[in-house]
Amino acid sequence: MVARIKNEEDLLGMREAGRCAAKVLEMIGPHVVVGATTEHLNQLCHDYIVNELDCIPAPLNYGGGGGQMPFPKSICTSVNHVVCHGIPSHAKALKNGDAVNIDITVIKNGYHGDTSKMFFAGEPSVMAKRLAKVTQECLYKGIDVVRPGATLGDIGYAIQRHAESQHYSVVREFCGHGIGKVFHDAPQILHYGRPGHGEKLEEGMSFTIEPMINAGKRYIKILPDQWTAVTKDHKLSAQWEHTLMVTADGCEIFTLREEEQNLRQ
Ligand code: MF3
Ligand code: CO
Ligand code: CO
Repeated sequence: MVARIKNEEDLLGMREAGRCAAKVLEMIGPHVVVGATTEHLNQLCHDYIVNELDCIPAPLNYGGGGGQMPFPKSICTSVNHVVCHGIPSHAKALKNGDAVNIDITVIKNGYHGDTSKMFFAGEPSVMAKRLAKVTQECLYKGIDVVRPGATLGDIGYAIQRHAESQHYSVVREFCGHGIGKVFHDAPQILHYGRPGHGEKLEEGMSFTIEPMINAGKRYIKILPDQWTAVTKDHKLSAQWEHTLMVTADGCEIFTLREEEQNLRQ
């Protein structure tokens, strides 16, 4: 079943969950500094999510079906060539120029808000900054397409075209997803595709768009910890994510941050 906002209660629930997830990213920004460990960032986010926002961190103990180890932390921290699902660790202290994606998913009153952005510790390289900027543009170009009647292929195409025009590549193993009371629901939102192909969008559908864009080739591998996805060629990867809903004339982004209020419809 496709994730769908069925009534006013769902809409208010998703707005609140999205706002909470965005607030975690706003809170953590100043703490992403040289020397901070990714476990320290995890601890700060966990405490804020649980104690200040009265939410549940959805990643903690997530998965684990089919014999997989459940995800052991409350947020994902993916540094440099880590594509996604990086596991926070005491052993991972940020160095000058590190690019880190922080991915937050909270559950508030049963509803999920899922969002991520890129941060830098110290002064990033021109290359890392450019990849992060283009990847954010990919997210926004995907979002721009969203309205009733557009197709999933239209979203994927907009993202892929922009990434490849900059000689970057799109990761294919992970995708956006329907979201609501369920974390990872139908439909799958591929970040590549062909215009006019795939399911048509309808008012009320709610899903994430979360392109993972590589500076080098698109191929990835999963580390023995069963979660951490890294680029095969060890070149940089970046990701940005929002949770949104299709409206009559476009979409409503549930996870907008203060710095993005210009995107409000
Ligand atoms: N937040 C990720 C997403 O965007 C999923 C993380 S699942 C975890 O879908 F178990 F790795 F945390
Ligand atoms: Co997601
Ligand atoms: Co996410």
